[in-house]
Amino acid sequence: MQELTLESWLEGEQRNYGLAADLALLVAGVAKVSRDISRQVECGALAGVLGLHGTENVQGEEQKELDVISNEMMLKAVFETGVVAAAASEEMDHALASPAGERKPYLICFDPLDGSSNIDINVSIGTIFSVLPNPREDASAPEDADFLQPGQRQLAAGYVIYGPQTQMVFTLGRGVVMFTLDPRSGSYILTASNVQVPEAAKEFAINCSNMRHWEGPVKRYIAELLEGTTGVRGKDFNMRWIAAMVAEVHRILCRGGIFMYPRDARDPSRPGKLRLMYEANPMSWLMEQAGGRATNGHERILGIKPEKLHQRVAVFLGAKEEVERVTDYHAKNFTL
Ligand code: AHG
Ligand code: MN
Ligand code: MN
Repeated sequence: MQELTLESWLEGEQRNYGLAADLALLVAGVAKVSRDISRQVECGALAGVLGLHGTENVQGEEQKELDVISNEMMLKAVFETGVVAAAASEEMDHALASPAGERKPYLICFDPLDGSSNIDINVSIGTIFSVLPNPREDASAPEDADFLQPGQRQLAAGYVIYGPQTQMVFTLGRGVVMFTLDPRSGSYILTASNVQVPEAAKEFAINCSNMRHWEGPVKRYIAELLEGTTGVRGKDFNMRWIAAMVAEVHRILCRGGIFMYPRDARDPSRPGKLRLMYEANPMSWLMEQAGGRATNGHERILGIKPEKLHQRVAVFLGAKEEVERVTDYHAKNFTL
């Protein structure tokens, strides 16, 4: 089989589908830095990248060494492409504008290191990114408010998973593609295209330790899954929880199922744990592009107009039938 590198694939997209050269440059830039992050991850303690950094991010979470390192690497790389007007990240209070110059076409949001609690235990982690148009028509510096666009405006979105293999998975709005990093050559090679979420779900992912805090519709949906062949679903489901959204989404794209991080009763002002702009939106677009669905229990995530950069949102994503079912339970306000 002829190997197709990410660079050649991007050239093909420009030639055949009119992909903007600037956007190709940005995707290539993310790929390039992810290779360097992957190398840091691979070396772990040998590179001194494990453990705490000793600071907190804007959300009050302890920053790990690798959260901070990967954030710095991502910033440098995306600004170096020359096409990014500003970047927003889980690890920064506010968006950061690129050094002054001419107008640049894109904004980028990222979670530089997803699954931070997995870093020190050598379990899969990742980087998530979402590219939006720069709404400013001049070269002035974009601010937080410029980022507050619904996910349906994304131009490119995806993740890199640092697992047994490093893979970059993304969409430009024409389906989902997967590239695998060849550690021998340092090139990303196309290993799957037109990825589709398998329709029949056999697995679900939710942090069951929060069960007592869930809302009625989630309790009911999960109770039915747990009843397996003896309940209304008439089949057994398996459960997984990797504690890295990147890894859960990757499993769903490969093998199907549903992932949930619902809001719960502990803090009614907090609509879920995951962040809309750099976790839920890019993953929701991937799911939809792969024939799956993504809602907050009530509405399509991609239609939500963000009010804040670090806004949280409840997430139900994966196989169409399952996401529709749990969303319907919310509409009907089901309880156990
Ligand atoms: P991050 O490491 O970027 O803060 O994100 C972690 C998120 C998400 O990736 C994962 O699904 C979830 O937090 C895990 O939450 P629990 O700690 O509740 O398992
Ligand atoms: Mn994350
Ligand atoms: Mn993170």
